[in-house]
Amino acid sequence: MTNTLAHHYYHQAEVFDFECEQIFRRHWWLVATEAAFATNGDYQAFKLMQWPLLVVRDQRGELRGFYNLCRHRAGPLVDDARGQRRDFVCRYHGWRYACSGELLKTPGFGKGEIANPGAMGLLPIRVACWNGLVFVCLDETAPDLIDWLGDIVGIAAGYDATSDMRFDGDVEKTAQCNWKNYGDNSCEGYHVGMVHRALGSSMLRESVDIDCYDNGQFVGFDVSYGAGKDASRAGRGFWIYKFPGLLLHFAEYAFNAESVFPVAANSIRLQRWFWSHAEKAALHGVDCASIRPNSEKVIDEDIAICERVQINLASGAYPGGLLSTEQEPGTIYFQQLVRTALSDFAEPE
Ligand code: FES
Ligand SMILES: [Fe+2]
Repeated sequence: MTNTLAHHYYHQAEVFDFECEQIFRRHWWLVATEAAFATNGDYQAFKLMQWPLLVVRDQRGELRGFYNLCRHRAGPLVDDARGQRRDFVCRYHGWRYACSGELLKTPGFGKGEIANPGAMGLLPIRVACWNGLVFVCLDETAPDLIDWLGDIVGIAAGYDATSDMRFDGDVEKTAQCNWKNYGDNSCEGYHVGMVHRALGSSMLRESVDIDCYDNGQFVGFDVSYGAGKDASRAGRGFWIYKFPGLLLHFAEYAFNAESVFPVAANSIRLQRWFWSHAEKAALHGVDCASIRPNSEKVIDEDIAICERVQINLASGAYPGGLLSTEQEPGTIYFQQLVRTALSDFAEPE
């Protein structure tokens, strides 16, 4: 048995601001699929917490990431979410940058007015790919992506890569809850019987091994179904909640990945990407068509309960509760990671 995190961690703006610097900035974030950058000049722009960013495949074919802001007076380089460009022209006064970030033109500026144009390129961020997924990180000193993923890389090797599957698209959702509230929920199967009745209340209790992995800081649910259980559930499966906000669901014939983007103390944006292997599944008598709608239903149920919990946490009436070592080891682990990351947080007077 362990005590839960105190309620104010879930709704105070001061805590969220601290987390931006101490947690969000220091980790990798899944932001796109590699296939979205098939051609040189393909870009995607997005906001990660308060940071406006963009990822682009430059004219040499290299994937690059930058802050979506101009070195002149912080104008935006692009307003739209995605597209294709030969170069970027700032929307404010028209400074021009190559897709590699180099400053090319500064219309109207006198010759020599910019002493060192070579040092005035776009501000770079880190970009790395794994399994067809594109991640960004704002911290130069953070571990490389593969080290950050830790044991996830080995687990993923036991399943089909995204390059062997068909991409079925992505979806965005928002939820009015704190990112830790969603994380607490995603790290345990204790709620399944009550919240996801259609999933079958026996499923998680009977067939799931939950383990916490320090090498990668994640909670892993081995949901492989033993022979003779429910044939329609199609064999092996492994679900992951990786700190601070990455979910990966590996299954025999499908894969989905989800990013939990904190937006404010009481709101998150979820982005989910889906792949499947319909032909292979059909050979084994499994229909992939229901995987995504079922998954959407489960997420909607999770969002609904987390939003209700958020109201209660923010009410200030919750004196703190208890977590079961038996039922909620993943949530205990997740909250330990949060506590460690926030150990220097100075409580407001
Ligand atoms: S802010 Fe970009 S050109 Fe002025
Ligand atoms: Fe759930």
